[in-house]
Amino acid sequence: MALLKSTKVFVCLGNITPSLGVMSARNSSWWGGVQMGPPDPILGVTEAFKRDTNPKKMNLGVGAYRDDQGKPFVLSCVRKAEALIAAKQLDKEYLAIGGLGEFTKACAQLALGADNEVLKSGRNITVQTISGTGSLRIGANFLSRFHGGSRDVYLPKPSWGNHTPIFRDAGMQLKAYRYYDPSTCGFDFNGALEDISKIPEQSVILLHACAHNPTGVDPRPEQWKEISDIVKKRNLLVFFDMAYQGFASGDIDRDAWAVRYFIEQGHNIVLSQSFAKNMGLYGERVGGFSVVCKDNEEAKRVESQLKILIRPIYSNPPMNGARIATTILNTPDLRALWLEEVHGMANRIIKMREQLAAGLKKNGSTHNWQHVIDQIGMFCFTGLKPEQVERITKEFSVYMTKDGRISMAGVTSGNVEYLAEAIHAVSK
Ligand code: LMR
Repeated sequence: MALLKSTKVFVCLGNITPSLGVMSARNSSWWGGVQMGPPDPILGVTEAFKRDTNPKKMNLGVGAYRDDQGKPFVLSCVRKAEALIAAKQLDKEYLAIGGLGEFTKACAQLALGADNEVLKSGRNITVQTISGTGSLRIGANFLSRFHGGSRDVYLPKPSWGNHTPIFRDAGMQLKAYRYYDPSTCGFDFNGALEDISKIPEQSVILLHACAHNPTGVDPRPEQWKEISDIVKKRNLLVFFDMAYQGFASGDIDRDAWAVRYFIEQGHNIVLSQSFAKNMGLYGERVGGFSVVCKDNEEAKRVESQLKILIRPIYSNPPMNGARIATTILNTPDLRALWLEEVHGMANRIIKMREQLAAGLKKNGSTHNWQHVIDQIGMFCFTGLKPEQVERITKEFSVYMTKDGRISMAGVTSGNVEYLAEAIHAVSK
């Protein structure tokens, strides 16, 4: 009987093929209607870079830290944590749906501060996620299913390229608020306040906690305070994306200031965290998603639903990266080493910003490049126009995203002069 049923299905689907103009069932195609999609705006840049044979080529597309030799950088604290973990000969059983408990605890403490009242009263739920992207997607799915208020999510203009598809694919409606002012290459504070003050109540607003991607432009503390006030007046649900804690200033507490301030002001935020950049755990895919709730009872209910969401997607998260991050966060000497290394990465980037601005000046550029120094975090929003980006890639093999964003982490003392020459050549 079962066999008969499946035969029927086959015949039925087989009947479709002639209408697609395919001659025989053997050569038929199931996917004739699938159109070629464009490459990913960020990861597609790496693919193009790999195909280039110019020895001077530079990949400033994806945000991935490189050392001053341009090599991928594995932090010493990570190597040491790996050795400690290997020595323990741990098992490879499934993690819980919400991930490794010690990790989620340490992850929330890192973001909120160990003494935070939210943690003490147990009114947060934090689950381990597949890095920042996975965290955002679980968050977006959760909002889409449970946020009764509104489907609208307001992103800063511009925002990280992947935010739009993440929220869109989760069924949210994308809206925007002004953020970046191209005339100053800085924060459009008045524009942002004006737009936020008009956002319909109960909508979701996405805020980059620090080191805004792609612009490298962050609000100052007094500006954050005004944003918090207006967000509260509008009764908006705040979704913080914190992918760069430590990378903006080199100080993990300073970079978490906005998140902690908002919580102090009574915002029950949701929060995405990533350990890709600050621990260099890119391919390990370690992240966290937190919901700050009214009380512990609400947190328990939210937790149950997050588990129901996660289980049919990937069942439970991978353990290796979470073990590494936990070992670093919970072993005092490794944690101290990590803080030093984060500081070192942030400082190298700051140095490269200064050298790039100086190099542009040396080349005779008459533009004001102060924003190269003033912007923070991994990225610099150069202000190059799409046609200039196209030229710099074609003529100099310098790869960057079309919006003119460069990953400062790919700039080294060995290639910064070449980059300055190239930018000057296409912008003069
Ligand atoms: C970036 O913006 O380059 C990084 O966040 C990497 C990514 O996944 O896009």
